[in-house]
Amino acid sequence: MRFYRETWADVDLDALEYNIHSLQNHHKKDLIAIIKANAYGHGDDMIAKKALACGAKILAVSSLDEALSLRYKHVEGPILVLGHIAPKDIHVAIEEEIIATVTSYAWAKDILNENCEGLVVHLKVDTGMNRMGLKNMTEIEEVLSDFEEAGILVEGLYTHFASSDDPKEIQTYKQYVLFESIYRQLDHPFKWVHASNSDASLHFDTPICNAVRIGLALFGYASFDYDLKVVMTLKTKLVNVKTIEKGETVSYGATYTASQKEIIATIPIGYADGWNRKHQGHFAKIGDVECEYIGRICMDQCMIRLDKVYPEGTLVELLGNHVSIYPMAKHLETIPYEILTQLSDRIPKVYFEKGKIVTTINPRLIKKED
Ligand SMILES: Cc1ncc(COP(=O)(O)O)c(C=O)c1O
Repeated sequence: MRFYRETWADVDLDALEYNIHSLQNHHKKDLIAIIKANAYGHGDDMIAKKALACGAKILAVSSLDEALSLRYKHVEGPILVLGHIAPKDIHVAIEEEIIATVTSYAWAKDILNENCEGLVVHLKVDTGMNRMGLKNMTEIEEVLSDFEEAGILVEGLYTHFASSDDPKEIQTYKQYVLFESIYRQLDHPFKWVHASNSDASLHFDTPICNAVRIGLALFGYASFDYDLKVVMTLKTKLVNVKTIEKGETVSYGATYTASQKEIIATIPIGYADGWNRKHQGHFAKIGDVECEYIGRICMDQCMIRLDKVYPEGTLVELLGNHVSIYPMAKHLETIPYEILTQLSDRIPKVYFEKGKIVTTINPRLIKKED
């Protein structure tokens, strides 16, 4: 598959493998690979298949649609849906062998009105995030016994930490203590017990758990210094290079005025690609040279200032080893998760393994068969 607009992401599957092994050496637990939001913008099926090949035991996504997206692309491993599945759709999960999360007491009761034979679930305990999960022992015990009677397999128990990016935050410890006490009181033979996300897995021990749910760190990022490799490099090429005079303005609203004679270039990426307007004032790089985004980011293009004339077609790094995501996130007043997951499917992905291209995926150029 090809692409003709020269803005794309190189995805290094060897870096993903490196990260998985590096993390597993650290936490020594089984891996639940978080593949939601199109694998944090890296492409769901390619990342899922590689994660399974590297030993991930379960893939986790946010919705039934995301789970089906993997199934339709022939991903065969166990898939856990972390979010809400409408009870009327639970038969789809059963047919496609997708594991559901018990997201609330009311959901559990509703599910019992459906034909649930063969359903497998993980039970989520809300220990303080107040987003999803069962709130107390009475609810949990009732659901466990109802589900046993209905032939639903409760194979997992989990919770989610609200403040794991801050190792000094006592909330993680408090949540874990509550989770552990619930787990011990239940005395149920769960196959899977999990709590930690990437950050927690790096600084917080969860002895009762046999698995960790890792998303961001798979892709080379964590809030703490850790031995990880960046998986995605976002690239583009200069498509228009010119000199502007002192006093000339650039882009919509004329928010940038050249303070002297300047060399500028247009690159084909804009907010419709997920490259939002707050990038103005930050920089891309040509080699090691920072090139500031000047003027407003447009829908499909934006302008950068150059230190000298480069030929059109010169490679520009937008995000990767030379343009780090953390300072970028600070500039954009957001977090790396948002930058990655907002990248639109207009950006084709080129997957590399052992230094060679294994495939190119451009969702905008898939021919309709019907
Ligand atoms: C329930 C749950 N578990 C795990 C993760 C993975 O988190 P991280 O990407 O920080 O590893 C997420 C991500 O949002 C999540 O919602």
